[in-house]
Amino acid sequence: MRAVRMHDYGGIDVLRVEDAPVPEPAAGEVRVRVVGAAVNPVDWKIRRGYLRQDIPHRFPLVPGWDVSGVVDAVGEQATRFKVGDAVYSRPDIARDGTYAEFVVIRETELAAKPRTISHIEAASLPLAGITAYQALVDIAQVQPGQRVLVHAAAGGVGSLAVQIAKARGAQVIGTASGANRALVESLGVDQFVDYRREALAPAVREVDVVFDTLGGDVQEASWALLKPGGVLVSVVNPPPQKRAQAHGVRGEFLFIGPNATVLAELARMVEAGRLRPVIGAEFALRDIARAHELSESGRARGKIVLYVGTP
Ligand SMILES: NC(=O)c1ccc[n+]([C@@H]2O[C@H](COP(=O)([O-])OP(=O)(O)OC[C@H]3O[C@@H](n4cnc5c(N)ncnc54)[C@H](OP(=O)(O)O)[C@@H]3O)[C@@H](O)[C@H]2O)c1
Repeated sequence: MRAVRMHDYGGIDVLRVEDAPVPEPAAGEVRVRVVGAAVNPVDWKIRRGYLRQDIPHRFPLVPGWDVSGVVDAVGEQATRFKVGDAVYSRPDIARDGTYAEFVVIRETELAAKPRTISHIEAASLPLAGITAYQALVDIAQVQPGQRVLVHAAAGGVGSLAVQIAKARGAQVIGTASGANRALVESLGVDQFVDYRREALAPAVREVDVVFDTLGGDVQEASWALLKPGGVLVSVVNPPPQKRAQAHGVRGEFLFIGPNATVLAELARMVEAGRLRPVIGAEFALRDIARAHELSESGRARGKIVLYVGTP
């Protein structure tokens, strides 16, 4: 099969488009023929070796951990899916990923693909969608009428987070540069903040929830925007508990894993018209270098997807 593999950590040049063996599903696993995959910042963070202490990878490694495709073979004791089923997943990040024509995934990490969207659109959802959903619903437990600040609202995670917070009945404030105002407003924000022109304070005040997708100075500037009793959820760096306590708020960190239950809920939201994928760029598998360059630029709009196979 054609696959993108890396034989070492490093720059974009370690991504090689080459032939690789078709993987065989073991017990409890299925093989998925990949139609669409997506690129996430964690892909280039792993490529650069930033996560090498936390996640043991063996080379050659197929990166990429978002997929939508069709079940192609079923291992022993795998009973949830049959050959021909349309599925989507954010599989285990410690194993070979989805920049390939085929990927083997534990059946517990798969869900039925949302019926109302294409495989390419579905491939854009799992990793970013699980992240946004778990941050806002499971951790922050956003309630109707609460004020929620979503940083990087034009990005892969933020564009879904805005919609999930709106679906929960929240008032949503989204930040992005002015070039992304129309996109972010189309997602339903109640207030748009162009972070390049406006300081967060006093433009944003008294929020119940901050969703921090940027960390660093942005996280630091966010504490003062929260109401007492509010919560900041970061997916970038663990919030210092002293800062949270000093402001009388909670500081939480999330690093997601595979989650078929959330994928099933995201599919329900898509099918009900309450969540739509936002795709900013599409690449063929052979153009993986350009896709990584775009992700690393920090300027991606919505999701970067890879078209790999035919539906
Ligand atoms: N812990 C986890 O489990 C987990 C899961 C998913 C993602 N993450 C992390 O979360 C981060 C975001 O992921 P992503 O996929 O959403 O990234 P992304 O799609 O690459 O984010 C790009 C977006 O960031 C915006 N942006 C950059 N600087 C900004 C600023 N100062 N203020 C507001 N917006 C800004 C850009 O908008 P403009 O061009 O308009 O500036 C662009 O639209 C990454 O670091 C990723 O690794 C962690």
